[in-house]
Amino acid sequence: MTAAIQRRLETPEPQHARQTELHPELNRAHVRFIGLGKTYNGQQGPVAALQGIDLAIQRGEVFGIIGRSGAGKSSLIRTINRLEQPSTGRVLIDQIDIGEFDENSLVKLRRRIGMIFQHFNLMSAKTVWQNVELPLKVAGVAKEKRERKVRELLELVGLESKHEAYPAQLSGGQKQRVGIARALVHDPQILLCDEATSALDPETTQSILGLLREINQRLGLTIVLITHEMAVIRDICDRVVVLEQGRIVEQGPVWQVFGNPQHEVSKTLLAPLQHALPEDLQSRLQAQPPSPDAGVVLRLRFTGSATDEPDLAALFAALGGRVRLLHGGMERIQGHALGQLLLAVTGSSLATEALRQRASQWAQQVEVLGYVV
Ligand SMILES: Nc1ncnc2c1ncn2[C@@H]1O[C@H](COP(=O)(O)OP(=O)(O)O)[C@@H](O)[C@H]1O
Ligand SMILES: [Mg+2]
Repeated sequence: MTAAIQRRLETPEPQHARQTELHPELNRAHVRFIGLGKTYNGQQGPVAALQGIDLAIQRGEVFGIIGRSGAGKSSLIRTINRLEQPSTGRVLIDQIDIGEFDENSLVKLRRRIGMIFQHFNLMSAKTVWQNVELPLKVAGVAKEKRERKVRELLELVGLESKHEAYPAQLSGGQKQRVGIARALVHDPQILLCDEATSALDPETTQSILGLLREINQRLGLTIVLITHEMAVIRDICDRVVVLEQGRIVEQGPVWQVFGNPQHEVSKTLLAPLQHALPEDLQSRLQAQPPSPDAGVVLRLRFTGSATDEPDLAALFAALGGRVRLLHGGMERIQGHALGQLLLAVTGSSLATEALRQRASQWAQQVEVLGYVV
C-alpha cells in the first residue's frame, strides 16, 4: 500500500482530488459497491449470494438493508470490512478500492470499521471492562490511553457501574451496549450492525436504537444496519435497500419505500407495518352492492409524497353522504405523513367510480375494496 493511501485511510476527511472522473455525489460516497458479486462454493455447487450490486452509502447516514433470509444481506455488509472477499466488482471506502489491500492494510481498515452482532460475541470469562479493552490491548495501545478510552466508552453506552460484571450477569441490552462500546474503541468511521437488535425485546431495542442514533449524530458515524424488524428501519434509517436473491430490487429514502413499496418483496416485508383489513370486515365485504343503501368501502393510502395530512372535513364533504371510518391511521416517517384510511360511504349521490376519483384528490392511492351493508 502506498503512503498516500495509508494517509487517506487515517485522515477522517477524504481528499477527492484524484477521483475527478466520478460524479460529485458518488465522489462523496462513504462506501461504494461497483458491480459487486459474491459466489460461494457450497456443498451442492456454487451459490450466487450477490450479483451486480451498485450502491452508494453516504457519509453520516444510517443505511438499512432488508430482504428475506438468504437474500445476501450479511454477505453484502461483510464485504465492507472484507470479512467476505468479493468474487467480482469492487468495494470503495472513501474512494479507495479495498480489494487491493494486503493483510496489514486490512487490519488497519477493520479498526476504522466497527461491527456489532445479534449474539454480541462477548468473551464470557472477561469482565465488561476487559471485553472493551481487549481490542486496544491487541492493537498495542498504552495502558493509560486504554483506560481513558474504555472509561469514555462505558460512559457513552451507560455502563460505568457495570465495568466489573461478567457477560452472564448482564441483560441482553447491556450485553449489546458492551458490544457497541467494543466496536467503537478505535474511533471507527463506519459501524456495521448485522441483526444487532434481533435478540432483544421491543423496549430494549428502542433503547439500543436511541444509542445508535446518538452515536450517529454525536460522533458522525456512518451506520449500515441489517434487520428483519421493519420498525427498526422506520425508526432510525435514512435510506434503505431491499435485496432479493442477491440483487437490489428497490432502494430509496425510508419514507418513500415504506410509503409506497414497489417490489413484491418490499410489499411483503412491509405488510406487518400496514394496517391490514380487519378479519370481520373482510368477511362482510361483498364484490357487488347487496342493496341500494350499501356502503362503498374505499381504501385511501397516503404515501407522503404530496398530500400531507389530509383535510378530513373537505374530503368527507366532497364524497357526500355519510362517511364512516372503519379502520386506519397515520404515522410520520422522516417528516412525511404516511398511512391509510378505510372508509364506508353510504347515501352519496356519486357513483362508485366517481367516489374513487373524488377521493383521489386527497390521497395518493384510492381503491374500491367492495361493499358493506
Ligand atoms: N460460507 C458460505 N458458504 C456457502 N454458502 C453461503 C455461505 N454464506 C452464505 N451462503 C449462502 O449465500 C446466500 C446469502 O447468504 P447471507 O448473505 O447470509 O444472507 P442473509 O444475511 O440475507 O440471510 C444464502 O443462500 C446462503 O446460504
Ligand atoms: Mg444474515
